[in-house]
This record gives sequence, C-alpha cells and structure tokens, in this order.
Amino acid sequence: MSVLKDRFALVTGGSRGIGRAIAELFAKVGATVFICGRKQYALDQVVQDNAMLPGRLIPIQCNVTRLEELEAMVDTIHREVGALDVLVNNAATNLVSGYALDLGEAEFDRAVETNLKSVYRLTRLVAPEMCKRGSGSIINIAAVAGIKPEPVNLLYSMTKAAVIMMTKCYALELAPRGVRVNAIAPGLVQTEMSGYIWKDEHRLAEHLRLQPVRHLGQPEEVAEIALMLASERASFVTGQTFIVDGGLLLA
Ligand SMILES: NC(=O)c1ccc[n+]([C@@H]2O[C@H](COP(=O)([O-])OP(=O)(O)OC[C@H]3O[C@@H](n4cnc5c(N)ncnc54)[C@H](OP(=O)(O)O)[C@@H]3O)[C@@H](O)[C@H]2O)c1
Repeated sequence: MSVLKDRFALVTGGSRGIGRAIAELFAKVGATVFICGRKQYALDQVVQDNAMLPGRLIPIQCNVTRLEELEAMVDTIHREVGALDVLVNNAATNLVSGYALDLGEAEFDRAVETNLKSVYRLTRLVAPEMCKRGSGSIINIAAVAGIKPEPVNLLYSMTKAAVIMMTKCYALELAPRGVRVNAIAPGLVQTEMSGYIWKDEHRLAEHLRLQPVRHLGQPEEVAEIALMLASERASFVTGQTFIVDGGLLLA
C-alpha cells in the first residue's frame, strides 16, 4: 500500500505518542514526513528507529509556541519540497489543568499559545501554498474534552473546542481552493500525556468500565483515521471532527 507515495507531510509533536504513530504510518505508506518537537534527540530517535520504511522521516526542532521557529521551519520545508500535501497539527499540552477559578492569566496564555494559536499560525503559514497549488489536507488533533467538558480542565477543553470550530471555519473557506480541513477527537489514548490516568490502576479500571470498547486506546488507532483523512479516500470530506474514543461519549 503506497497511498501517500511522493506526498509531503508535516506532523507537529511527531517525536512520541499520537504524532509519532501518525508520522510512522504516513512514512509506511510512502510519504516524506517532517516531524517537529522541542527535543532534537527525541526526533532523531524516531528517525533512527524507522530507517527502513518506504517513506522518509525528517526531524526539525521547533517549539510551536514560537512564531519565528514556525516560520523558519515552514520556510525550510517550502524551499526543500515546495507546498506540503498534508499538515497535522498535533502538538499540545494538558499541563495547565486545575480548578477553573485558580487558573491565572499565565496559564490561560500558555494553553492558548500551545494548543490553539500554534494551529492558527501553522495553518496561515502552510495553507496559502496548498491553495496556490489547489490541493492539501489539514488535520487538527482535538480531543473529546473539546466536545464534553473535562473536569478540572477548563483550558484544555476550551482550547480543544476552539480547535474544532477553527477546523470548520477554515474548511468552509478553503474547500473551494482545494484544501480539506478536518479534526480528530481522541478519547483516552495510551501516551505520555495521559499517563496520569492509565498508569493509575483504579482510574484505568473505572475508565474502561465506562468505555464501551473495553481496551485502552492506542496511538496507532488514531493514526489510521489520520491516514484516511490525509489521503484521497477522504476527497469528499471536510470540516468534520472524527471521534476516536471507543464509544466513550456514548456512555
Ligand atoms: N493521549 C490522549 O489520551 C489524548 C486524548 C485526546 C487528545 N489528545 C491529543 O493528541 C495530541 C497528541 O497527544 P499525545 O497524547 O500524543 O501527547 P504526548 O505523548 O505528550 O506527545 C506530545 C508531542 O508534542 C510535542 N510537543 C509538546 N509541546 C510542544 C511544543 N510547544 N512545540 C513542539 N512540540 C511540542 C512533544 O515533543 P517535545 O516534548 O519534545 O516538544 C511530543 O512529541 C495532542 O493534541 C493531545 O491534546 C491526546
């Protein structure tokens, strides 16, 4: 299967978890995938672990909260390969949780900068070249917390809800110019970010009791949906949010 052969993708937060699984799956089906994150060694490790795939992984150190780093990264990519075919806005933080009335302006700004403004900035940097060429797929990783409020997680839920609406707004405007924009809203997936839940035996058991599909979500299960959205198989799909949560929101 080589559905992304000769395609170029950028996956933010591609050094671990869901971003890594997406980048690896894209490279497995032939894509050249730029992966970014703050730690160069973590990116290099992913490249080293995947040297034998049909596609290529290319590391670029970049903190998505810094405009100048985003601009430099996208400049490099455009110079090397031209317009991207796929952008996956995946990097995010949930470290700014806490009771709503205890959250200060610094936490608010940090959550918005990382989870929301980075998506807005990267879309503005990448989409114009896609529009000029008349094709592209942008995939924003949201969360079920952006659909149903998560307890003690105002900033995460709020920013992810905004990502879902941003997805719809961009989709509406960019579709006539050949660019599709969709979101994925994962439930609990086994990564470093969610370790505080799944590493706690009791919390995990309670979660799985409520989740109709009884296994802990895996990054690869999210990556499969990203691949579908990235490829021409989803040519008639835009503005949608795909809930990948083992049925959690139904329960
Ligand atoms: N895991 C879940 O249960 C779950 C559920 C719903 C939604 N999601 C969403 O899925 C996405 C991926 O989450 P994950 O669970 O895979 O997280 P993760 O395991 O913590 O990985 C996060 C990735 O993002 C990078 N990153 C974080 N801050 C960054 C920054 N400022 N600039 C550049 N890169 C940055 C990290 O690398 P560095 O640390 O090296 O920068 C890492 O590669 C996020 O949008 C998250 O909100 C996850």
